[in-house]
Amino acid sequence: MSKLWDRMRLVPTVVRLASRAPRNPHAAWERYWTGVQSTGLDGDVLWDSDSRAERSQYADMVLAHFDPALPVIDIGCGNGSYTRWLATLFPKVLGVDVSAGAVARASLEARDLQSCSFTVLDATKAGAGDLLVDQVGPANVFVRGVFHVLKPGKQAAMAANMKAAVGSAGRVFLAETNFPGNSLDYLAGLGATGDHVPSQLQRALENLPRPGRFGARERRSVFPAADWRVIADGPVNIDVVPMAQAGQPQRVPGYFALLAGANAEHHETLQREGHR
Ligand SMILES: C[S@@+](CC[C@H](N)C(=O)[O-])C[C@H]1O[C@@H](n2cnc3c(N)ncnc32)[C@H](O)[C@@H]1O
Repeated sequence: MSKLWDRMRLVPTVVRLASRAPRNPHAAWERYWTGVQSTGLDGDVLWDSDSRAERSQYADMVLAHFDPALPVIDIGCGNGSYTRWLATLFPKVLGVDVSAGAVARASLEARDLQSCSFTVLDATKAGAGDLLVDQVGPANVFVRGVFHVLKPGKQAAMAANMKAAVGSAGRVFLAETNFPGNSLDYLAGLGATGDHVPSQLQRALENLPRPGRFGARERRSVFPAADWRVIADGPVNIDVVPMAQAGQPQRVPGYFALLAGANAEHHETLQREGHR
């Protein structure tokens, strides 16, 4: 069977599933998270791969560039897998999500960790950055897999809030999926066919806004050079739960960027003893 025919057979399935998704993105995320029964490698959540290989791509960069005297905010934390990982590296981490269901699950999964706390907040809302500064002071910001699910106007609003949150001492680290093909290629690469859609993918399709890609071009328009300095950027692999082959997380091409405000203090030579 040709690749084109395979992709054509996927179309009606995708249209049927996507037609069930709420139009309001916040309602969509809430419905998604309140329906989650289990997380982690064998769980319901597509991107919750608990992948050491993925985290190891980020560890040296956040350790070298995040001032450990500042708290870390994990924006769009979901069930808090990365919040908990950040808490192994930094003394104080706040996970923030628009979905109360996500925050409830994240709080439960981090119940034994004193250094993690969570709050419900729309990170695209005007003033959200100032609210975060009121709550924890200037901070470093970590974000994985959130920009690519937002419309461009909301992406810019979230970046503006991050600018307020980091002030002159904090840094932003972002990692996003940046799949080069079309959405049918993306779904097929994750194991979807006209006859079968893996359950984690089905849950995402029938609940959530359609994801886009977020790479250097999108980052340039959302984090303009007048406001931001790029310390480093480039390709990464974003790992999702195993669907096509049992056992191994599946890789999606991604993009990372490490950023400072344009007028930020330079402390890039700051190194943490024992971590480099
Ligand atoms: C693809 S998930 C990634 C979750 C987490 N960062 C991870 O990598 O495991 C995107 C998350 O962003 C959250 N989100 C979407 N829009 C948001 C907004 N406007 N403000 C805060 N969180 C948002 C969703 O509820 C969801 O938990």
